[in-house]
Amino acid sequence: MSASAAAAAFQDHYGRPPEGIWSAPGRVNLMGEHTDYNQGYVLPLAINRRARVAAALRPGGLLRMATTAGGAPAEVRVEDLRPGVLEGWSRYAAGVPWAFGLRGAEVPGMDILLDSDVPVGAGLSSSAAVECAVALALNDLADTGFSRDDMVLLCQQAENEFAGAPTGILDQSASLLAAEGQALFLDCRTRASRLVPLNLAEAGLVLLVIDTRVSHAHDSGGYAQRRLDCERAAGSLGLESLRDIDLSGLVLAAGTLETTQYRRARHVVSENARVLAVVEHLETGRPPARLGPLLDAGHESLRDDFEVSCPELDLAVDAAKAAGALGARMTGGGFGGSAIALVRRDDAGRVGAAVTRAFSRSGYTAPDLFPVEPGPAAARDA
Ligand code: GLA
Repeated sequence: MSASAAAAAFQDHYGRPPEGIWSAPGRVNLMGEHTDYNQGYVLPLAINRRARVAAALRPGGLLRMATTAGGAPAEVRVEDLRPGVLEGWSRYAAGVPWAFGLRGAEVPGMDILLDSDVPVGAGLSSSAAVECAVALALNDLADTGFSRDDMVLLCQQAENEFAGAPTGILDQSASLLAAEGQALFLDCRTRASRLVPLNLAEAGLVLLVIDTRVSHAHDSGGYAQRRLDCERAAGSLGLESLRDIDLSGLVLAAGTLETTQYRRARHVVSENARVLAVVEHLETGRPPARLGPLLDAGHESLRDDFEVSCPELDLAVDAAKAAGALGARMTGGGFGGSAIALVRRDDAGRVGAAVTRAFSRSGYTAPDLFPVEPGPAAARDA
């Protein structure tokens, strides 16, 4: 939906025009999965799918939220905002004013209408997109003066504590800090970041998202369990985090870890190295088409060592590669969600058709396939 259509939907719902329209993108992560909460490296890009928020202040301290996606409207008094008072999609919107309030901001009442084309549960950060769009809207309307870096943490806090998903800073950083035609290289320990050129179109390439339609949720057990595994592995190694060891060090220390901990650690440590390898590859101007083997290695590590893939993701990756993809891997937290495949533009149709056929042969729900481009970060649209 365009910005003007979102304004019209706001007018329809609330009977008055919005004061502005803000939008924030979902993301795919090119490399660096489950490294963010281990103080490691990530390399996401914002995608050309966005959550759009039309909003206006309202007197009297009431926060009202509605969505075009069919979820129920919700309302809550700003003074009553606390974890647990809301359920469903509105937690992601309402968690942001709650987090702003905790940081000492004067949070006013507001009417919000959400319209998003980031698929929900697809591992493309639909929730972070909502949070970041609301954060920009609130920051502008209430003049709270937070920087984008501040808002990354405020949105993460909303997601962790208000929505109850113990995630890292990957998604909110991508949505607020990425840029068109680039990937965002972020050090999650220091929070230093820089943009890395990722001109896929110029190289005749397409990044194909394969949404398996297996819905994931990071407020359920698997994601939190992986975090715990990693913390315990770091603890057994006497380290602050798995960021503090490289692969040869880990091999030498193998005896101090039980098998599962060792494999979890090996994923994180090797994935950090893969992020650095991709960044070096792109920054030294080597062809993005040659990134395929690194993508493949990332998937194998997530599948075998970290065990966050699932049969549908593995099939998406294998079928895409068999049909000519240069490389493919799951993206995001896993347990469902999406894979990405790097393909030559001319092969995209063939690869997509082959993946769809493979899903049908296995009796899986048909996947949703679409190309993504590194798009712009969250912004005010109107
Ligand atoms: C989810 C979380 C992120 C990150 C990824 C895995 O998307 O929201 O913080 O941990 O999983 O890389």
